[in-house]
Amino acid sequence: MITGGAGFVGSHLALSFKRDMPHSRVIAVDNLKRRGSELALRRLASGGVEFRHGDIRNPEDLGDAGSLDLLVECSAEPSVQAGLAGGDRYLINTNLVGTINCLDHARRHGAAVVFLSTSRVYPIAALRDLPLVATEMRFVIPEANTGPGWSPRGITENFPLTGSRSLYGATKLCSELIIAEYGALHGLPAVINRCGVMTGPWQMGKVDQGFVAFWAARHLSGGALSYNGFGGAGLQVRDALHVDDLYRLIRDQVAQMPLHSGTTYNVGGGAECSVSLAELTEACVERTGRRVAITSQPETNPVDVPYYVTDNSAVTAATGWRPHRSVTDILDEIFGWLREHRREVEGILW
Ligand SMILES: NC(=O)c1ccc[n+]([C@@H]2O[C@H](COP(=O)([O-])OP(=O)(O)OC[C@H]3O[C@@H](n4cnc5c(N)ncnc54)[C@H](O)[C@@H]3O)[C@@H](O)[C@H]2O)c1
Repeated sequence: MITGGAGFVGSHLALSFKRDMPHSRVIAVDNLKRRGSELALRRLASGGVEFRHGDIRNPEDLGDAGSLDLLVECSAEPSVQAGLAGGDRYLINTNLVGTINCLDHARRHGAAVVFLSTSRVYPIAALRDLPLVATEMRFVIPEANTGPGWSPRGITENFPLTGSRSLYGATKLCSELIIAEYGALHGLPAVINRCGVMTGPWQMGKVDQGFVAFWAARHLSGGALSYNGFGGAGLQVRDALHVDDLYRLIRDQVAQMPLHSGTTYNVGGGAECSVSLAELTEACVERTGRRVAITSQPETNPVDVPYYVTDNSAVTAATGWRPHRSVTDILDEIFGWLREHRREVEGILW
C-alpha cells in the first residue's frame, strides 16, 4: 500500500513496485488534494496499480486489505510554508494524525513501514547559521569548514535538532518519534528516510514545493518568476534527488528490512547533485533559448533556509546506494516530459 499514491513520489513508487513485482497487489490510496494528482489515475490504472480514493485522516478509508507486506507513507501536505497563514489543522491532521492512522493500519495488518520524512526536521536557525559564502552563482560552505552534523559534503543525521523547524518539519519529526515508539512497543518494522528535495517527471511543481519542475515549466510558458529571500539573487542551494533514485533505495531497504528497521537516514542528491536558483535559471535558458523575467524579493520567508545539501555517507555506508542521476540528467528528463505532456499539464503547471 502506498498512501499518497497519486502524488509525485507515491505514484512513481507504486508504478515501479508493480513493474518490478508484477504478481504483487499494489494499492495507491490518495484523497487527490494536490492539484494534478488526478493526472496519475490513468497512469496508475495502466500500470496495474489499484487506486483507492481515501483520506488518511479517516482510518476507515484505509480499508481492510487483508494481509499487507508493506506500507509506504507518501501522503502529506508537503509544503514547508503550509500553515504559515493559519489553516494549520489540515497539515497537522494529515502529516501527524494521518500518519499515525497509517502506522496503526500497518501494525494491524502485519506490514513494514517506509516513512518519507524530510530534511526540514533540522532547525531553521541552525541551518541559517552555517558559515555560507556567497559566490557569483551560489552559496557555498568553504572547504575545511565543519561543525556538528555538517561539512562541505552536506548535512548528516547528527545535525542538532534543537530549535524551531516549521510546522511541516515538526509534524514529520513528531511522526518519526511515534514510529520509534511503535517499533519499541509493538515491534513495528520501519525505516525513515529524511529526504532533501526530490524531483523528476510528473512533479506538479509550485513556488513552495517542487521548485525544479516549476522553474522548468515557467521557462517553457514564459510565466513570471522571482528570486525570494536571502538577498534576492537566487544564490540559495538545494540538492536534488531523482525520484527513481529514491525508488532504488527503498526497494533495497524493503528487501532487507530487518537490517534497516529502526534506522533514520538522510537521503538526497548530495553535493554533486545540487543547484542554486541562479544556476537553475541558466540551465533552463540553455534548454529553452528563452530568458524569462525574474523579479527579486529580498525579504526572507520565516521558514526558508539558504542552503540544504544532504550528506549521504550513512545511507551509502549501510546500503551501498548512491544517486545515479545528475542535475543535467534530471533537467533533460523534466524538459522532455514537459514538452511531451504539455497539453495535459499546462492547466496546472503553466
Ligand atoms: N518532493 C519533495 O521534494 C519532498 C522532499 C522531502 C520529503 N517529501 C515527502 O515525500 C512525500 C511525498 O511528497 P510528494 O512530493 O510526492 O508530494 P505530493 O503532494 O505530490 O504527494 C502527496 C500526495 O498526498 C495526497 N494527500 C494529501 N493529503 C492527504 C490525505 N489527508 N489523505 C490521503 N492523501 C493525501 C495528495 O493528494 C498527494 O497526491 C511527502 O510525505 C513529503 O512530505 C517530499
